[in-house]
Amino acid sequence: MEREPLVDGHGRLIADLRVSVTDRCNFRCQYCMPAEGLPWLERDAVLGFDEITRVVALLSTMGVHHVRLTGGEPLVRKDFPRLVGMLSTIQDLRDLAITTNGFLLERDADALVAAGATRFNVSIDSLQRHRFHELTRRDSLDQVLAGLAKLAAVPGVGPVKVNAVALRGFTEEELPAFVALARTSGYQVRFIEFMPLDADHAWTRDQVLRGAELHAMIDSLHPLVPLEREASATARVYRFADGQGQIGFINSVSEPFCGDCNRIRLTADGRLRTCLFSLHETDLREPLRAGADDDELEQIVRDAVWRKELKHHIGEPGFIQPARTMSAIGG
Ligand code: 5AD
Ligand code: SF4
Repeated sequence: MEREPLVDGHGRLIADLRVSVTDRCNFRCQYCMPAEGLPWLERDAVLGFDEITRVVALLSTMGVHHVRLTGGEPLVRKDFPRLVGMLSTIQDLRDLAITTNGFLLERDADALVAAGATRFNVSIDSLQRHRFHELTRRDSLDQVLAGLAKLAAVPGVGPVKVNAVALRGFTEEELPAFVALARTSGYQVRFIEFMPLDADHAWTRDQVLRGAELHAMIDSLHPLVPLEREASATARVYRFADGQGQIGFINSVSEPFCGDCNRIRLTADGRLRTCLFSLHETDLREPLRAGADDDELEQIVRDAVWRKELKHHIGEPGFIQPARTMSAIGG
């Protein structure tokens, strides 16, 4: 059944849902998690596959046609390809994307593509083994690169992007290798400005390596030509002037793109978040488990979405960092 489009109080149409399928992760990236991990959710606090599928199917009838599965690390969720298979049977979905750290891709790439995953973002912050180890606290660069290669070789795989968080004093030294990767591999490499979603609440503005700075550094190595920005896109995408490869910049801090944001998020424990930086969440798990019907769920979702935040306030006086880290929200 088609329902009315999902629209917020600022007139923005919501078309994109990010689902965190687990808060757990096999990495401990410095900017995301403490070395010892975080207190994980209890198993029964986490939405089951049927519950996730029900929410996604309902939202799809309201025009949410783009779904991205994240974590934590989604591939550590038991039977994750089965969930992908369940979601890919939902008629109205245009794409089913996955954001992963790549560690388990060698094992799962075939199964995920076969189950219907259409796009992949693989997070890689360094292409040098010791620096990768330092940042993620795991000596796993080779494993991730093997996973990436495996994925790229799966017949019928959709576009693959490589995402790196841009950190001042760290990422500068990575640029030549990332530029070479973008120019030779066919992966679009994207840099994401470091946001205040870290477990330690240690974020400061001067740690953010701004997209404009990265752009200048890369452009001086190999000239870049801007591509037109797609509506609601997070990345500003460029191609190399000589036609070899693409680079993107997600300038969430220095050039926010809240104005045409079309995204909402569902946490692993079934809370709807209307912004990465929301201080308020809407519980869907309780009504789901209490037997709410689709019309009741629809109303809860609409009320929450109507109050979607106009924009984030990073760096402004009074900004409050949400209690959840990126791993508990979903990228
Ligand atoms: N700022 C920016 N990006 C982050 N990610 C995790 N934490 C942060 C942060 N504080 C990224 C991961 C991954 C995606 C899910 O989000 O590196 O690419
Ligand atoms: Fe895990 Fe991603 Fe957080 Fe790294 S950034 S610890 S890979 S959830």
